[in-house]
Amino acid sequence: MKLVILITQKEYHKAECIFKNDSIFSCKSAPLQENFLARAVKSNSAFGVILGVDKYEGQLYSSLPKGGVIARFGVGHDGVDKQQATEAGIIVTNTPGVLDDSVAEHAIWLMGNLSRSIPSQNASMKAKNWQPQVGNELRGKTLLIVGCGTIGCKVARIASLGFGMKVIGYDIARLDPEKMKKDFAIEELLDSIDAGLNKADFVSIHLPAIESTRHFVNTSFLSKMKKDACLINTARGMVLDETALYDALKSKWIGGAALDVFETEPYEPVSLAKDLRNLDNIILTPHIGSSTMEACERMAQRCLFNTKAAYEKRYDQLDIVNPEVLKKLV
Ligand code: GLV
Repeated sequence: MKLVILITQKEYHKAECIFKNDSIFSCKSAPLQENFLARAVKSNSAFGVILGVDKYEGQLYSSLPKGGVIARFGVGHDGVDKQQATEAGIIVTNTPGVLDDSVAEHAIWLMGNLSRSIPSQNASMKAKNWQPQVGNELRGKTLLIVGCGTIGCKVARIASLGFGMKVIGYDIARLDPEKMKKDFAIEELLDSIDAGLNKADFVSIHLPAIESTRHFVNTSFLSKMKKDACLINTARGMVLDETALYDALKSKWIGGAALDVFETEPYEPVSLAKDLRNLDNIILTPHIGSSTMEACERMAQRCLFNTKAAYEKRYDQLDIVNPEVLKKLV
């Protein structure tokens, strides 16, 4: 009999063809909500679960077997409690590298949509109006990449080599400026974020969700941006203070923003009086950065690869995010 792997419904449907045809595991669609998912894990004696970005805080960790797997269908793993998983002897994996192109492309589309007001021009055409607006070229504009990891670097290359933008970068880690320039066309690596905020026409956020990045984009950050500059966030909602952004956009302190990720998902305004959906200088998408057919198939394949590697105890081949758990397993 095949070993059971449960995949949360949303993720199952994103790559059904891969999950349906797996030769080793019996992959079943399962509820997203933690208590129902935990119950399903127990009743199916599942070896692992494949999860989206949602938060799992309790029952899931006692439902899986020791040595079992929580595989993130994606790269950010802030929704998984690594401490609880490690204590329970559960391996947590993710899928680095397979979604970078999709997220980078989405950041670029958002920047282009902002510079030419595509959403409002489209809406006005559909309302049977003909009201052309004058936009801006990307060529020659300065793009600040905040977080020069693999996705940030892809955005940098497309923006520089594709659109002729001047790209500058900021990262908390010490990176090699020569390598950044040669491989990713990031002209300058900055020592402080402030040195970039007063130069950039576009600021694209690519930071991980960790405690030190919570509300990294706050009132102070936004107040240092150029008055007509635009902000793009395709990373994680918690790195941006949505109340501060609302105020900056409402007062037209900055030119515009485009968000794919939110402090609460599905989006709920932090306060009813500051609902980002009521602003006309913002573009919103429902966390679709990695949602392309290509990335979804690759993420599904990588999740299954990781789960199999864990089952066969090939621990050196895993994309593991809680390596300390291995001490309990070997
Ligand atoms: C998507 O946001 C991911 O973390 O994979």
